[in-house]
Amino acid sequence: MSYYRHHVFICLNQRSNGEACCAQQGAQAAFDHCKAKVKAEGLAGPGGVRVNKAGCLDRCAGGPVAVVYPEAVWYTFVDNADIDEIVESHLKNGRVVERLVLPADVGR
Ligand code: FES
Repeated sequence: MSYYRHHVFICLNQRSNGEACCAQQGAQAAFDHCKAKVKAEGLAGPGGVRVNKAGCLDRCAGGPVAVVYPEAVWYTFVDNADIDEIVESHLKNGRVVERLVLPADVGR
């Protein structure tokens, strides 16, 4: 049994060279919202859900991106409603949000 039931990594990478990055697309706000939502739902902590900052996950073209382990499900999202759906459906009830899954061919 893993320490966390779900471990979420959200890319917050910021690039200064003008290339696309998740930080330019609201990743910090999404991260903050996700942390708050997980806590508010009583999901945070050992045996539950951990949300961590990540550097570049090398799938920037689909940014902002997040990955949920142990399932290794990759998501892209645009707003807090998307984050809420991932928390409610996947992290709380174990159902992947198919409409937000990052297509397999999206890379950097
Ligand atoms: S900058 Fe977020 S995946 Fe690369």
